[in-house]
Amino acid sequence: MTSIRVDKFLSHVGIGTRTEVKKLIKQKKIKVNGRIVIDPGLKVDDDKDQVSVNGDIIRYQEYIYIMLHKPKGVISATEDKKERTVIDLINHPMKSKLFPVGRLDKDTTGLLLLTNDGHLSHQLLSPKKHVAKTYYALIDGHITEEILNKFRSGIVLDDGYACMPAVLKLCSEGRKELKIFKEWDKHLEIVSITIREGKFHQIKRMFEAVDMKVMELYRHQMGSLILDQSLVQGQSRELSQIELEELKTGDMENV
Ligand code: URA
Repeated sequence: MTSIRVDKFLSHVGIGTRTEVKKLIKQKKIKVNGRIVIDPGLKVDDDKDQVSVNGDIIRYQEYIYIMLHKPKGVISATEDKKERTVIDLINHPMKSKLFPVGRLDKDTTGLLLLTNDGHLSHQLLSPKKHVAKTYYALIDGHITEEILNKFRSGIVLDDGYACMPAVLKLCSEGRKELKIFKEWDKHLEIVSITIREGKFHQIKRMFEAVDMKVMELYRHQMGSLILDQSLVQGQSRELSQIELEELKTGDMENV
């Protein structure tokens, strides 16, 4: 990291606005290398200097990457006047800088990546990259070989859009092992579906196109990133170094 002003450093990591940080400096709460800071313009370098606020050491992070197990009832947005958003569920000093990478419907659960890295977000969402996303769904309908073939060759949506081939698999035999959906009727089928694009309500509309209804939808994977099964709904954690490397360098299509 090149050196930057200490007030800028601290506001970037979410300690407060520049004005709030200046107030903390006046209150003598900020130290660099153990010495009280007087000048908000003091240059610091995270590689060499130790910055602390009220005794807590603060590390500089340019980018943050958080996986959230999205519950139902929250929207994939940064702010909203009426609804709770996914950002409201995050507990991180830099949460105000985060945005969700793509959207899950309000009633969809599962993996949602949040970051402030616009480049990675673009890599994952660009229609040209064809990043694979795998979901589990609870379907009201009977999945026959003919239906599987339709998904394989490309479903045509209500607006005439021809979807790319999708991989649809029946998982009904593994119902017990798949502890994703808490309540479901015996007549509903559990499927996994992998798509490589992200049209509005795409999966629900794909099933509507074959006269079936998605009763529950859960995202399991995006690119190489798989939702940590130890996170319960509403919980989140930062990506590990390995997860991040794989996501950045991975072959986005062939996962
Ligand atoms: N497809 C949908 O229909 N909904 C989602 O939330 C994600 C994919």
